[in-house]
Amino acid sequence: MPILGIESTCDETGAAIVEGRTVVSNIVASQIDLHARYRGVVPEIASRAHIENILPVIREALEGAGIGLADVDAVAVAHRPGLIGSLLIGTTAAKTMAWALSKPLVGVDHVHAHLYSVCLDSSADIPMPAIGLVCSGGHTALYEVRSFLDIELIGSTIDDAVGEAYDKVAAILGLGYPGGPIIDRLAEQGEARAIAFPRSLLTRESLDFSFSGLKTSVLYHVRGYQGKQRNARTLSAAEIWDVAASFQAACVDVLVEKLRRAVRRCGARSVIIGGGVSANRGLRRAMENFSLPVFFPPMQYCTDNAAMTAGLGGVLLSAGCTSELDLDAIPHSQFLDASH
Ligand code: KG4
Ligand code: ZN
Repeated sequence: MPILGIESTCDETGAAIVEGRTVVSNIVASQIDLHARYRGVVPEIASRAHIENILPVIREALEGAGIGLADVDAVAVAHRPGLIGSLLIGTTAAKTMAWALSKPLVGVDHVHAHLYSVCLDSSADIPMPAIGLVCSGGHTALYEVRSFLDIELIGSTIDDAVGEAYDKVAAILGLGYPGGPIIDRLAEQGEARAIAFPRSLLTRESLDFSFSGLKTSVLYHVRGYQGKQRNARTLSAAEIWDVAASFQAACVDVLVEKLRRAVRRCGARSVIIGGGVSANRGLRRAMENFSLPVFFPPMQYCTDNAAMTAGLGGVLLSAGCTSELDLDAIPHSQFLDASH
């Protein structure tokens, strides 16, 4: 049952062919070079690049799998959440193909797909209920996952996403974009206890996150305050490594503590972690001795990709959860509501 998946929620144009949990082909056209000089994604530039990339990427995914469009069993698309202009490109392409080929269309929530990414190219049986953590540039949220068809939001960020904090701290330090992988690398050389950045845990029981105070704290540390004027250029390489390591330690401590709380509250039997920040080496190391089995996606499926969309699309298709051709592009997630 080959499923064609399409991803265009933010700044990666992706297409993949997935059969069950096996990724047959996975193509990602990254736009990082286009956005790097702005230190963030420029929505209009992203939409235009998606238009240029979408058909070549789909063609390459089909070629990589050695199949034609007629061999595809369904077209799955991440139609929410994301940048509206970007979402529209993938959603329109998917609807057009589903209609022209008379194949089922499956609308997928991108946050849901990040959770499912732990299943890709893996035969592991994930003990349920699991606590799911999606930590990316756009989201930081905790879920009780009773099955991949039964997911409940139990906590989320009240301000920045953790990946967004990584990107902003990298900008403060005068490093490149996206900041996560760079800080992750520099943190290896620094001393995690060098600077006592705050760990915002909110109230004792809270499963919500807040990263904006940590980000401001890094800003004050780097730029100086009370008359001490500095900037990243005046810091030595070793000082930048220490800031990177200490910032990363603060992020990781918060994520791990919230996972512990969520596991206790829900009586979970395992933990699954997806989204761009799940590639982080510090986080992966910190979870090595967790009290429950922990599942991370293979590295290539941590950041945005269409394989997770196709994989989850297959699960939804089997459950009869297909979409109509009036499927909309929607900026917010189905799994994040106003009460959190
Ligand atoms: O999942 P993703 O590709 O896009 C969203 O859905 O947001 O996540 C991108 C985010 C960026 O903020 C990037 O800096 C962060 O993931 N990221 C990392 C690492 N690799 C990517 N953050 C920390 N450590 C990493 N190794
Ligand atoms: Zn994502």
